[in-house]
Amino acid sequence: MITGHLLSAADLTKDEALNLLATAKELAAITDGPNKKLPTLRGKTIVNLFFEDSTRTRISFETAAKRLSADVINFSAKGSSISKGESLKDTAQTLQAMGADAVVIRHGSSGAAKRLADTQWIQAAVINAGDGTHEHPTQALLDAFTIKQHLAENKKDLSGLRVLIVGDILHSRVARSNVLLLTKLGAEVVLVAPPTLLPVGVNDWAVTVSYDLDSEIEKCDVVMMLRIQLERMADSFFPTEREYSRRYGLNNSRLMKLKKNAIVMHPGPMNRGLEISADSADDLKSVIVDQVKNGVSVRMAVLYELLGGAALVGSK
Ligand code: CP
Repeated sequence: MITGHLLSAADLTKDEALNLLATAKELAAITDGPNKKLPTLRGKTIVNLFFEDSTRTRISFETAAKRLSADVINFSAKGSSISKGESLKDTAQTLQAMGADAVVIRHGSSGAAKRLADTQWIQAAVINAGDGTHEHPTQALLDAFTIKQHLAENKKDLSGLRVLIVGDILHSRVARSNVLLLTKLGAEVVLVAPPTLLPVGVNDWAVTVSYDLDSEIEKCDVVMMLRIQLERMADSFFPTEREYSRRYGLNNSRLMKLKKNAIVMHPGPMNRGLEISADSADDLKSVIVDQVKNGVSVRMAVLYELLGGAALVGSK
């Protein structure tokens, strides 16, 4: 059982992460049935506080909270008093006054979720839904869940699996959280990127680094393509998009080199034709739609554990 906040994948022990994945599996089995809704968080209020755009994360947290019968307030910076200059402190105190039990926050600044959790502005559980280029722990949890579902269903953890994370590692909170979580769960992680898209200090991470996708592609069980985050790039990190795509994009010829049971992942949103071809995104090896579906069950598990929900129907 996790308590307090979920700010980083590093907050979770291996057992806590595996328990969350098991709870998510149980919740998925229940909500895949005719009655999708459980009464476990009735009376709780969950606020989705989004200072940056989101499709998957915001909708899946909202769906997760509603499936657990919580009340949901969706709050985006656009259209709120934040656009008139209201501070994070005043916003947090407003949410406290409204009785928020949990705040799911996405923010463009690394550390924003921790800032909210560390202050006395609000007593709610804080869940990091992506802070700058820092972390996105629930994305890593849903990715681990999806890998386990496809490649290690009857195994305890992800030992023996080799995961390639390819592309814009430098700007990717998804990559950081996945490196922390997947290695904790026993997977071997290889980062593949041009040197310009790797962060300073990457050699201290518990990963292997390669600049050559073609020498790695046939050895992996999972290839996770990352979005090129053009909106965070003030400088030029590669010569042209065409050149990037040629060296680091997933295309048909690379797809053919993958092992028979290997899977293709992408956290979304995708730049089709840049880091991943349309054919690769829609191939039978692609589990990208499963990642989105699993996001709901995993986020249900996180909300359920942090808010101490009533016993699950059908649980032991
Ligand atoms: N993967 C992810 O965080 O997607 P959104 O930006 O659509 O939430």
